[in-house]
Amino acid sequence: MCFSHFSMLLHLLLLICGLLSNRSNRALVNGGSSTVVLGDTATLPCKKPDTSEALTQISWQRRTRAKPLDDNFYVIDATTGPRFVNGGDNRFTFVGNIGDIDGTIQLSNVTLMDEGTYTCIITLFPSGNHRREVSLRLLVPPSTSLEDNPVILGDEEVFIANCTAAGSKPPAEIRWNTSSLDQILRTTSISTQHENGTATTVSSLFGKPSRDINGGLVQCVITAEGLTEEKALPLKIQVHFPPVEVQIIESSKDSFECKSEANPNANITWSRSNQFFPSSARVQGGRLQFLSMSSDLTGLYLCEASNRYGRKEIFVYVHVNSESSKTAWVLFAVLLVLVIGAGGAWKLHRSGKCQRSPEDLPVEVPLKEK
Ligand SMILES: *[C@@H]1O[C@H](CO)[C@@H](O)[C@H](O)[C@H]1NC(C)=O
Ligand SMILES: *[C@@H]1O[C@H](CO)[C@@H](O)[C@H](O)[C@H]1NC(C)=O
Repeated sequence: MCFSHFSMLLHLLLLICGLLSNRSNRALVNGGSSTVVLGDTATLPCKKPDTSEALTQISWQRRTRAKPLDDNFYVIDATTGPRFVNGGDNRFTFVGNIGDIDGTIQLSNVTLMDEGTYTCIITLFPSGNHRREVSLRLLVPPSTSLEDNPVILGDEEVFIANCTAAGSKPPAEIRWNTSSLDQILRTTSISTQHENGTATTVSSLFGKPSRDINGGLVQCVITAEGLTEEKALPLKIQVHFPPVEVQIIESSKDSFECKSEANPNANITWSRSNQFFPSSARVQGGRLQFLSMSSDLTGLYLCEASNRYGRKEIFVYVHVNSESSKTAWVLFAVLLVLVIGAGGAWKLHRSGKCQRSPEDLPVEVPLKEK
């Protein structure tokens, strides 16, 4: 009975002391800050060293995105230990030590809603309440991506790629490593702030789609406080164009190779106009090979290079003298340019009509005897 009265008196005293210290605010100490990456564990320190006073309790209060008004959520009683008040959240763990007057707690699986200010109130006898404020700051690493837009050869500046750092806190920085192409390429950047405190930054790359930049290597480099190291996303610029100048080379005594520069790579086909392919001729990719020299090989061969932007053809006339096993050949015309579906950059030669342009006129008329 006597003990319980004493205890009540003690509590009353503490309450008065607490009110006094709260009003004067003299015992509020900045306990520092804790910066943690989303999903990690935050440590919220609370210590009152160098005191010989008796601890009554340590209580925790928070003001966060989830609880914008002062919310008492945790009490560490000197005799009964820690307990939740106003509902529990098992992500909190007491990691301090009552004997050392250390009320440090940890919060695991941190979310954006946990960001805010945490205050621990150490109640001592007789000095009363001592407050420590810890601000919890969250870092969110961005999700990064690079989306390229294959472009078609042309003279007008076009959009080449987007580099995105989404949902970053604080906002991510994006720069481009364009090395030798930096005079030709241009970049822009925009950032959008989200309600949850993160931001999405998109940086776009523009340039004139010339053959010079085709195959050029650039890098989008993302830096953010939430990332342990900067992130570099590589990009090989793709400028698409239809086959340019088809070439036939005599690759060996009995075979021809047909080649063309194009992006995507040209599909090469060999055919004979209005005739079956002789059985002694074999085609492998761009290679036309004569297995034996027979006179039925004599005739006109057509090589066609095509991709989805157009096609180009070249003819070779082969004469085989079966007695001497010698071939004579003449390369006599590049006739057809067909450009399909190119968005304005290329002049269209559609409708299946064969069109001649100066570069398509017979360029090379070698006549070889062997
Ligand atoms: C924290 O997250 C991990 C992994 O998602 C999960 O297994 C664990 O149960 C979570 N802990 C709490 C206390 O919510
Ligand atoms: C924040 O909001 C954005 C946009 O609504 C969303 O895409 C993102 O996932 C959110 N981030 C977190 C960590 O909740």
